[in-house]
Amino acid sequence: TNATAVKTDAPKKMVLPDAQTVTSVRHWTDRLFSFRMTRPTSMRFRSGEFVMIGLMGDPDPKTGKQKPLLRAYSIASPSWDEELEFYSIKVQDGPLTSRLQHIQPGDEIILRPKPVGTLVHDALLPGKRLWFFATGTGFAPFASLLREPQTYEDYDEIIITHTCREVGELAYGAELIEGLKSDELLAEVIGEGFWKKIKYYPTTTREQSPKMGRITDLMRTGEAFADLGTGPLVPATDRAMICGNLAFNLELKEMLESYGLEEGANSDPKQYVVEKAFLD
Ligand code: A2P
Repeated sequence: TNATAVKTDAPKKMVLPDAQTVTSVRHWTDRLFSFRMTRPTSMRFRSGEFVMIGLMGDPDPKTGKQKPLLRAYSIASPSWDEELEFYSIKVQDGPLTSRLQHIQPGDEIILRPKPVGTLVHDALLPGKRLWFFATGTGFAPFASLLREPQTYEDYDEIIITHTCREVGELAYGAELIEGLKSDELLAEVIGEGFWKKIKYYPTTTREQSPKMGRITDLMRTGEAFADLGTGPLVPATDRAMICGNLAFNLELKEMLESYGLEEGANSDPKQYVVEKAFLD
């Protein structure tokens, strides 16, 4: 029984706390992958929130005890999906992602089913146009929100900008957005052609692509607004969510403030919200 098993040195299969099972894995580039896993039936969340997920850490050399190694991950699937999806970077010497990148269907992942976060509709005041600003894996919460019916019920127009170093890093987002055109559930709930509300604006900074440059620079020069056929954001009608690396978040936050938008929170909804893409 358990009492005797604990005393042996032989490796035994750990029964992970809060374990869920991986159902599929896709590798997008040598730096990026996404995976899906089972969702606890009792777990509720709002599209755009994040949870702690991870694997059991290595045994402590002195005590032999193992502790969970957890990181915050935005849930990339929408709240109605019966599975959970995540989009992750692979850091070769990252404590978690160096191992997480090798997961296979059937493997177990630890999930602390306590979703939280600020990139939620509740943290924004009503508006007409919603901007999603992402860099790299910061696209993840928007993958959730783009599949969330409320996004299309609440806004006339959704603009998603995604800045990555290389073209291959845009693939996850590009495929997801393309897939919305044939999303039967959303079409049924929102009405055919809901996806026409979306304007997708991908840019790259270190590899040639149709639109080069950081979104912040493209906004500063006005090029992005000219391409999109909008003016700069205005507090009366524009709402924004930001998720990317720290420098990007800070720079864009400052720009939005200069347009007169104010940062909202769950308890105090305003014109924009920000959350960082968590790196290993
Ligand atoms: P750049 O290549 O010019 O640094 P990372 O992979 O380092 O997180 O970066 C993801 C993308 O975010 C890159 O294209 C990077 O551009 C861009 N980026 C980094 N910092 C900023 C910033 N302050 N404002 C806008 N984009 C940024």
